[in-house]
Amino acid sequence: MNILNTSEDMRSASRLARRSGKCLGFVPTMGALHEGHLSLVRAARARCDLVAVSIFVNPAQFAPNEDFASYPRDFDRDRELLKKEGVDLLFAPSVPEIYPDAAATWVTVETLANRLCGKSRPGHFRGVVTIVAKLFHIVEPDLAVFGQKDAAQVAIIRRMIRDLKFPVELVVCPIVREADGLAMSSRNAYLTPQERRQALTLYRSLLEVQSVFAGGERDPTKLIGAGKKIISAEPQVRLDYYEIVDPETLEFVTQIGGSALVAVAAFVGTTRLIDNILIQGNP
Ligand code: PAF
Repeated sequence: MNILNTSEDMRSASRLARRSGKCLGFVPTMGALHEGHLSLVRAARARCDLVAVSIFVNPAQFAPNEDFASYPRDFDRDRELLKKEGVDLLFAPSVPEIYPDAAATWVTVETLANRLCGKSRPGHFRGVVTIVAKLFHIVEPDLAVFGQKDAAQVAIIRRMIRDLKFPVELVVCPIVREADGLAMSSRNAYLTPQERRQALTLYRSLLEVQSVFAGGERDPTKLIGAGKKIISAEPQVRLDYYEIVDPETLEFVTQIGGSALVAVAAFVGTTRLIDNILIQGNP
C-alpha cells in the first residue's frame, strides 16, 4: 500500500495507476475505521481495479463546540486494517495541506445544506462538500463509495457531483449494524456501557416506524409520532430531530408515495448519533 501525504504525490500516484486504463475506486473517511468503513472499501474493490482511501479528520465540518479535538484517531491501526483489505493508495494529508493559510473557497449545495443534520450543525455540510470536492480533485477517482448511514450526506454529495459535473460514479452501501442493531459509527467509542444500551433506542424507534408503516399507516406525522414515542421512553436520550423526507431533495413528505427516508438524530449523554431507514410506499 502506497501512503501519500501531499496532494501532488496523491494525484501523481492516481494518474500513474490509471494510465493503463484501470478503474480507481475511492473511499473518503475520517479514520477510526470500523466494519462499516471496511464494507465501503470492499464495495470499491469489487467494482474497481484499484482502491484509494483517504483518512482526514476534516476540521471544517465540526463546529467550534463539537468534538474535532477528541475525535478518535488511530492511524497505525487504520493503516493495518486497510493493508489487510488490499487498499492500493492511502491518502493521509495534514490540515495545512488541505486548508493552506487563508484558504477562502467553499463549496455549498445551497438548497440542501440546512436540512436534517445541517439544521442543528450549521456549516457542517459546507465543510463536508468542500472536503469531498477537494478530495475528488486530488484523487480523481472513477467511482466513490459512501455509506447510507449519513443519508443527508449522500443526497448532498450526489447533488454536488451532478451540479459540478464531476466524472465520478457514486456508489452507496447499506448501513452496517452491530449484532443488536446499533448502527456502526466511530462515535460509538464515546459511549459508556449504559449509554451503549440506551443508544439502541434509535434503531428500535426506526423498527417501530417500519412496523406501523407495514400496518398501513401512511401519514408521516403519525409515523414520526410512533418513532418519537419509543425515544421518549428512554429519558437519557435527547432527540435532535425525527423526520420523514424525500431521500433526494431532503424535503418533508406530506404523504408517503414512493421511497421516503426516516431519519433520526439524538444525543445519548454527550454523544450525538444518527440512524435512518428507507421505507417504500406505492409509487
Ligand atoms: O462521512 C465521513 O466520514 C465524512 O463526512 C467524509 C465524507 C469523509 C468527509 O470528511
